[in-house]
Amino acid sequence: MSDATHVASGKVREIYALDDERLLLVASDRISTFDVVLPTDIPDKGRVLTGLSAFWFARTREIVPNHLLELRDDGRSMECRRLEMLPIECVVRGYITGSGWKDYQATGEVCGHRLPAGLVESEQLPEPIFTPATKAHTGHDENITREQAAALVGEERFAEAERISLALYRHGSEWAAARGIVLADTKFELGLDPAGRLVLGDEALTPDSSRFWPADSYEPGRGQPSFDKQFVRDYCETRGWDKTAPGPELPDDVVDGTRARYVEAFERLTDIAFDDYLADPEVVVR
Ligand SMILES: Nc1ncnc2c1ncn2[C@@H]1O[C@H](COP(=O)(O)OP(=O)(O)O)[C@@H](O)[C@H]1O
Ligand SMILES: [Mg+2]
Repeated sequence: MSDATHVASGKVREIYALDDERLLLVASDRISTFDVVLPTDIPDKGRVLTGLSAFWFARTREIVPNHLLELRDDGRSMECRRLEMLPIECVVRGYITGSGWKDYQATGEVCGHRLPAGLVESEQLPEPIFTPATKAHTGHDENITREQAAALVGEERFAEAERISLALYRHGSEWAAARGIVLADTKFELGLDPAGRLVLGDEALTPDSSRFWPADSYEPGRGQPSFDKQFVRDYCETRGWDKTAPGPELPDDVVDGTRARYVEAFERLTDIAFDDYLADPEVVVR
């Protein structure tokens, strides 16, 4: 890639600078679970993430402008506008699970939102809530209150990020619900363009940034099987892994099962055959 300078490696993406204004984000096939990148790749996972993100970017421009400039033919690389990312993760929760469930059990609140008493695990919330988190450079992100988040980005920007994130969640959850998928919660990353406008960056409404649950087996009162990473998580549990690096190698059946679920998520959410995407990535933005 002679036209690009490598600038960073994330857990999943390689980031290259094309020039002062543009980045190339290349989604690898790496998979992380419990925040540890595993030694085994899931073939095409990066293409699923890039294709789904581009699909949503094309459909949410009315809600917020986004960083996508061009999808490359390999299906895993996108040229993006370089943004100054906000120092918070914009998390929206429609259901009480994960760290939200832990916080609620301890305090009755999530990120300063007081919730009704007596919620059970995985229950739908009366309204989706905006629950920002810090961007941890190492380790786990930490939930913060709206006051803490507003102190980091400013009151006005905080209010705008909340409004945009809730609107994106509503759009995604309605779309997914019509296709038999519960969007339990999701994370967006917003940044500022040179004019100071908020722009949606990173990936959006993918299995890596969201909890998708199959609607037909959804049942409040217990943890839900994850649509995509469940094979990997179950396998890691049976290995008695302590969830610190390095993670275990994955056997072929776990790799195949996981790849199939990522592809199924792509196809169910986009109504597009994954093979059609591989043949011509532009199908997701038409
Ligand atoms: N348009 C953009 N401008 C600048 N940085 C971006 C943009 N879009 C995404 N990023 C950053 O690129 C990185 C994406 O790589 P990824 O592997 O997902 O990282 P992580 O391990 O932090 O999730 C993230 O740090 C994200 O904040
Ligand atoms: Mg990321």
